Amino acid sequence: MKFFIDTANLSQIREAQELGVLDGVTTNPSLMAKEGITGKKNILNHYSKICDIVDGDVSAEVISTDFEGIVREGEELAQLHPQIVVKVPMITEGIKAIKYFSSKTIKTNCTLIFSVGQALIAAKAGATYISPFIGRLDDVSTDGLNLISEIVTIFDNYGFSTQILAASVRHTMHIIDCAKIGADVMTGPLSSIKGLVKHPLTDIGLKKFLEDHKKSNQ
Ligand code: E4P
Repeated sequence: MKFFIDTANLSQIREAQELGVLDGVTTNPSLMAKEGITGKKNILNHYSKICDIVDGDVSAEVISTDFEGIVREGEELAQLHPQIVVKVPMITEGIKAIKYFSSKTIKTNCTLIFSVGQALIAAKAGATYISPFIGRLDDVSTDGLNLISEIVTIFDNYGFSTQILAASVRHTMHIIDCAKIGADVMTGPLSSIKGLVKHPLTDIGLKKFLEDHKKSNQ
């Protein structure tokens, strides 16, 4: 299972990279705005900085909603760095653009997936990744993990190579549940990744080991 971090915050990306388990980064216009990154030049520059920190794929989202605009923006983003994956919204024009990018071997991440039908058509169009938003489904009393499970079944039935990127992960249990179901990738906040390390019995056990060592080596 690949671990992506869902942020545009450079220090959090660095911290996750230093852990040694980071496979990539996802961003979106809201996350870029949260870091105060505005204006095309600054946005492109920020993507380059992220690519310099991590080794894996970095999703950069287009803001156009028409085919020509998505293609223009996507090609510019893809030229920026080989690690860039063009993040395209799940809309009709987006599907056409994903098909186009796929024919040009430009990697894509189809975002804002909330149904199996959307996942299926994005895979048919040749998306590299599809991003079902599990946390946002949970927020509206719909089982986000069930969506991941249904997509896994469908992709397995037909051998789609599109990777299932569980997005809108909010906490550590989401990661564990996605791993049980067989999501290819998860993207979540740094806290959800760091939560995998923690167990109170580990802390208690380590404290005791260190105390015993100290006593016997005095
Ligand atoms: C996906 O790539 C999105 O950036 C992200 O996971 C959205 O998560 P949120 O629902 O926590 O905003």
